[in-house]
Amino acid sequence: MSGDQIDWDLLRDAAIVALGNSYSPYSKFPVGVAGFADDGRVVSGANVENASYGLTLCAECSMVSQLWATGGGRLTAVSCVDGNGESLMPCGRCRQLLYEHGGPQLLLMTPEGVLPMAEVLPQAFGPADLETRGPAE
Ligand code: THU
Repeated sequence: MSGDQIDWDLLRDAAIVALGNSYSPYSKFPVGVAGFADDGRVVSGANVENASYGLTLCAECSMVSQLWATGGGRLTAVSCVDGNGESLMPCGRCRQLLYEHGGPQLLLMTPEGVLPMAEVLPQAFGPADLETRGPAE
């Protein structure tokens, strides 16, 4: 699927709605994210922080949980926004999460425009490495 076949406005609007579910009293930096699954449904999430700061769940974690809570599948396109509704680059950990559930072809709306995960997380470690390398003897 190419980037111009995707309703990016719909995804951004869904990510902005998801911002309303953010629990971010510590950073005061709400994040919302929304994505299309390969069956066309929209999944979304917001960041959920913790008094033990390192336990914070990023918005992408919430979205991936919703993906699996509502039937699973693959992510095809994702839009992540900050509290002003502007595109936000996912953090490094979340790039790995998105790669797991969308692979290198997943399209991401970024501040630089639409980019595939292959560019957002180049030379990624992923499920294929486990298959091709197998467990150590
Ligand atoms: N955050 C996300 O939810 N996703 C990202 O990709 C970047 C960072 C959240 C985590 C924390 O609650 C707040 O943004 C500030 O780092």
